[in-house]
Amino acid sequence: MDVDLEAAVVRQGDLVRALKEQSAPKQEIDAAVTVLKDLKVKLAAKEAASAQVKNFRETVTNVLKRRLFFVKSFKIYGGVAGLFDYGPPGSAVKDNVLSFWHQHFVVYDDLLKVDCPCLTPEAVLKASGHVDRFTDLMVKDVKLGDCYRADHVVKDFVKDALEKDPRMPAAQKEDYARTLASLDDFTADELGAKIKEYGIKAPDSKNDLSEPFPFNLMFATPIGPAGLLQGYLRPETAQGMFVNFNELLLYNGGKLPFGAAQVGQAFRNEISPRQGLLRVREFTLAEIEFFVDPVDKSHPRFGSVADLEFFLFPRSQQVNMSAPLKVRLGDAVAQKIIDNETLGYYIGRTYLFLTTLGINKERLRFRQHLANEMAHYAADCWDAEIECSYGWIECVGLADRSAYDLEAHSAASNTKLVASRNLPEPILVEEFRPVPNRKQIGICFKADQKLVLESLEKLSSEEVVEMVAKLESAGEAPLHSDSTDKTFTIKKGMVDKQVTKKTKDKESFTPSVIEPSFGIGRIIYCLFEHCFDTREGADSVEQLNFFRFPPVVAPVKCSVFSLVQNAGLDELAQSISVELRRAGLAVKTDITGRSIGKRYARTDEIGIPFAITVDSSEGGVTVRDRDSKEQIRVPVEQVTQLLTDLSAGNKKWKDARCAYPAHTSSDKTDEDKTDE
Ligand code: ATP
Ligand code: GLY
Repeated sequence: MDVDLEAAVVRQGDLVRALKEQSAPKQEIDAAVTVLKDLKVKLAAKEAASAQVKNFRETVTNVLKRRLFFVKSFKIYGGVAGLFDYGPPGSAVKDNVLSFWHQHFVVYDDLLKVDCPCLTPEAVLKASGHVDRFTDLMVKDVKLGDCYRADHVVKDFVKDALEKDPRMPAAQKEDYARTLASLDDFTADELGAKIKEYGIKAPDSKNDLSEPFPFNLMFATPIGPAGLLQGYLRPETAQGMFVNFNELLLYNGGKLPFGAAQVGQAFRNEISPRQGLLRVREFTLAEIEFFVDPVDKSHPRFGSVADLEFFLFPRSQQVNMSAPLKVRLGDAVAQKIIDNETLGYYIGRTYLFLTTLGINKERLRFRQHLANEMAHYAADCWDAEIECSYGWIECVGLADRSAYDLEAHSAASNTKLVASRNLPEPILVEEFRPVPNRKQIGICFKADQKLVLESLEKLSSEEVVEMVAKLESAGEAPLHSDSTDKTFTIKKGMVDKQVTKKTKDKESFTPSVIEPSFGIGRIIYCLFEHCFDTREGADSVEQLNFFRFPPVVAPVKCSVFSLVQNAGLDELAQSISVELRRAGLAVKTDITGRSIGKRYARTDEIGIPFAITVDSSEGGVTVRDRDSKEQIRVPVEQVTQLLTDLSAGNKKWKDARCAYPAHTSSDKTDEDKTDE
């Protein structure tokens, strides 16, 4: 319901009544009535549209569940909120999306793909900030213990109140609107105060609610039988790439920029998962960490995406309550709407990825984070949002996280995660090396003397200066051995320093990281909605559902039918299927002899783009296109190559139509007429 429109109707109705009571001039009353009628028409249209959206969602979800695209996990045991299984067509769509992601990002940009464990020790997630800050605010029903997300409880209450009472005083309405706008910024105390002020109770039982408190979304689990090492199921795949930074840099010949990529399961113990596949507790993430020099965030391939034009929703437009803008990507980066070329490059590649999969470009926008949404260290963040029946949904997060992650892991692990760059001109620098007093060290550390000497050798110039200064001032200094994790106490007289002058032509720095993070389940759900369509069946009454999946996404590329049950036709259909499978295409064979119209309808419903029908043992076969329902005649020996080309997108249907004779309605067994 559109709360503002509803309120406008109420206000205009009041005005008309008042004018009539005051016996205002007829002209004035008529004008007010016309405005009222207009508003009512608009409201009715909005309500019809919102009912339509709900109906649409129900229809799509029914088809998805009936055709086993996805189902609730562990259903025979009652299921668990936020856990879903993909059935055969859903899991094939997911494989296809991931395989296209691999091709489009990893292969195309030569990214370094890794595959790290889901189980992650606490130290890693402590350094990344997840142990302390990966939380949502939660409230509990004080009697029953039921848990709710605190911001959701307030949001639902306010929306409900606004819908039920559009005639509420303007001041109250304004307060509610302000609360809705500030939900993301509220602290636990502020949210608690709002819950008290509005008298909000537990949605299910109407019992009192607790004060809001932070709830960490990670699933904790001890690692090892003794339970001594605290671990978590990873909430994102990114950390595996940060902790391997030095190895990956070495693998890349020490050169920047380079990107790492990882695809895998992520786990978040969402407080109240709703909206089906959009908010779940285990999901597949596909992430890229692109490491760049912070002083040069240009991208060598930016030119290849600069001319793309699509919807951007910059911060300024959101603050002014204005609409998203259609902008040329090159201009957006030149005008600094997007911070830098590398971030712009990945926004462009993400646009191409999503629209090639079948996301409607009119329902896709890139929204910039508002200042209050962005972490303090982030340079710029954008979300790829896709509109579906649940509204605009964040499906991909694209963030320039600057040097935060590598610096955090460097500090926590005591391992330098840095790259180096050439200096514009070589410079002369003083470097300090330790001069150990081997005799004293030997006497003092005995069996450990070798370890102490090795650890001294590993000290950087700055560390040597620091140690000698400490020995002077305090008489002793600690020395850590990274390999054994032992710390030795070095006494005055055991170590001195020696200076050498060196020409330096490189300097080290911590790279910035640009992170595109793709929630595969959210993309797939939006894809389902965007590709779903209905059309009239043969009887002009029944509506037939179908998915317009592009071949790259379609769970099965082609169905193979024999027109009627007949040993010769069946055998040819089977041998064509075998050939297609041999060529690597997923094929569905149906030689049941049921009405061909019904068989087309069933395969359309899971989005199979092409169908081959064997209608004679010689003279070729027909190939039908799902979307246009057009058919062509193709010699049997050419059909595998044609379907391979169509499925790979190397040929479009219109190319095939030009290359082969149409199977006209006079010679075709019209699929509509053959419906029983
Ligand atoms: P939200 O604000 O919706 O919880 P987020 O900002 O926490 O999402 P990120 O941490 O940026 O999300 O995660 C990267 C991507 O992972 C998101 O763009 C989204 O596609 C996906 N994602 C995050 N949480 C979930 C979830 N619970 N279920 C499914 N996908 C998710
Ligand atoms: N190609 C067979 C049919 O459509 O009837």
